[in-house]
Amino acid sequence: LDVSMDMWSYFHTCLVSIWLHRFYIYSAVAFGISLWIVIQFTATIRTKRKKSPGNPASSKGTPDKLGNGCAPPQAQEVPIAGVKIFYGSQTGTAKRFAKALAEAVTSLNLPVEVINMGDYDPEDSLSEETSSSNICVFLVSTYTEGQPPESAAWFCKWLEEAANDFRVGKSLLQGLRYAVFGLGNSAYVDHYNTVGRSIDRWLWMLSASRIMTRAEGDCNVAQSKHGSIEADFEAWKANFLTRLQVLCRGEKKSCSRKCKKGKCKSSEKQSKESSDHEHGMSEHENAEGEELFETSSEEEAGGTDSVVDVEDLGNIMGHMKKAKVLLHSRYHLVSFVCQFLQAKLIGLMIFALFSGYKLIGSHSGVKLCRWTKSMLRGRGGCYKHTFYGIESHRCMEATPSLACANKCVFCWRHHTNPVGTEWRWKMDQPEMILQEAIEKHQNMIKQFKGVSGVKEARLEEALTVKHCALSLVGEPIMYPHINRFVRLLHQHGISTFLVTNAQFPEEIRRLEPVTQLYVSVDASTKESLRRIDRPLFKDFWQRFLDSLKALAEK
Ligand SMILES: Cc1cc2nc3c(=O)[nH]c(=O)nc-3n(C[C@H](O)[C@H](O)[C@H](O)COP(=O)(O)O)c2cc1C
Repeated sequence: LDVSMDMWSYFHTCLVSIWLHRFYIYSAVAFGISLWIVIQFTATIRTKRKKSPGNPASSKGTPDKLGNGCAPPQAQEVPIAGVKIFYGSQTGTAKRFAKALAEAVTSLNLPVEVINMGDYDPEDSLSEETSSSNICVFLVSTYTEGQPPESAAWFCKWLEEAANDFRVGKSLLQGLRYAVFGLGNSAYVDHYNTVGRSIDRWLWMLSASRIMTRAEGDCNVAQSKHGSIEADFEAWKANFLTRLQVLCRGEKKSCSRKCKKGKCKSSEKQSKESSDHEHGMSEHENAEGEELFETSSEEEAGGTDSVVDVEDLGNIMGHMKKAKVLLHSRYHLVSFVCQFLQAKLIGLMIFALFSGYKLIGSHSGVKLCRWTKSMLRGRGGCYKHTFYGIESHRCMEATPSLACANKCVFCWRHHTNPVGTEWRWKMDQPEMILQEAIEKHQNMIKQFKGVSGVKEARLEEALTVKHCALSLVGEPIMYPHINRFVRLLHQHGISTFLVTNAQFPEEIRRLEPVTQLYVSVDASTKESLRRIDRPLFKDFWQRFLDSLKALAEK
């Protein structure tokens, strides 16, 4: 009896303990299921990509179009004209290293130029390096919160934007050969060497070719690979010079271009180091590289070398299908997780993060238009400047509704912004939206202070908003207080340019006068409109025709 009582009491204790800890158990099970779903989902996407006939990785025998971190054979054969050493430094270490490297390169009888990133305009000059036959070296340190040194801020910003802007062809820097040495301190655990890593990644995303593995110098002597940042640099410098001599001799290791998981079949027997050199990255990086390769393939993206504007729809029509595949795969995982968590707000924030929008309240956004940036630097403005003399640097691009009733195939916010046919969001007041929009716009403008090429006078002018483009993202006319918002803008002496997607004829009729009203005509037949704009409204064609009528009545 005692034994059975003991058993029962033990069993009872277990049950009570399970009951008391049930929330941990639920959490563990939920976490396990989520993990399993994500793994399954990722595996499915990878399998699909590998099977896809358009996937360069699956086309054996076909030379890859992108570098995949491995300098294309043609690029390696190009003789070396010289070495350009770019440095970004706050307290002088990177600058010192740049000079030391320059001396060493000079001793190899190669022309060398040391360039402070702060004095260099990547927009003007970096693409020239794709055909200059130079080797570009980047020595850059990381500062507080993973930021670049002040002098390198514009260089990094430009590179990041170019790498992430879907309108910029992913082969923008194809042919540029580079090496990166990052300076940092591993005591900054969360941001260790982030700038060097990012520059390396952005260059790679734009199809530049690494000539060797990125290296990292660590000020933290306890962790530094060679005992100090100086020793780290010396070791990397020696490797770099060896690599340079190899390239100068025109020697190249054969690359079968059948790289799989970062390993080249032809190089399996070679030492790990030479394999790294050939591929220009470590095994770990190769895995990362493969991922990047899959998502930045020019072939998949259907990109071109030149900048493509969304407004140049005709030019990108031929690439849309492939671009759609890319956009799908890029954002699908994010979208999936968001749906899984039922977290629409998270989706909106992710959208803001990826697209460079600053969110306002719960449904509005503001962004710096590329023409605003262009005019800040004394260059040309958008067509509104050409046609009507609008000063693009004084124009704020904003929307009171990030939500839209279409899911256009050419829209880069695909799957990440809310869609719907009617207003379903908590409503923010126009006064609040305008005030925050101007503040956030001004903050973005202020970030250009001191940036190479930016005109001081234009920057001052830009702080006073004179025009507002209610366009590009979302459907501004969906916002129920759109008339109040437009009136408010006019009261502040701000002219209004509103673009609507031709799905809200009644709202167009009710709209009070704006400075200019545009209705997007994305297709000329019902079927093509359905395929291009992928409207949510069932009567989308009638709405489209009515919208044009409403515009004509204005
Ligand atoms: C205020 C401060 C913040 C720093 N933040 C970081 C950091 O976030 N990540 C990192 O890797 N290194 C960080 N470092 C270390 C520097 O990158 C390192 O000292 C580097 O060698 C400086 O190079 P420079 O003299 O060329 O600017 C920081 C150093 C200072 C003084």
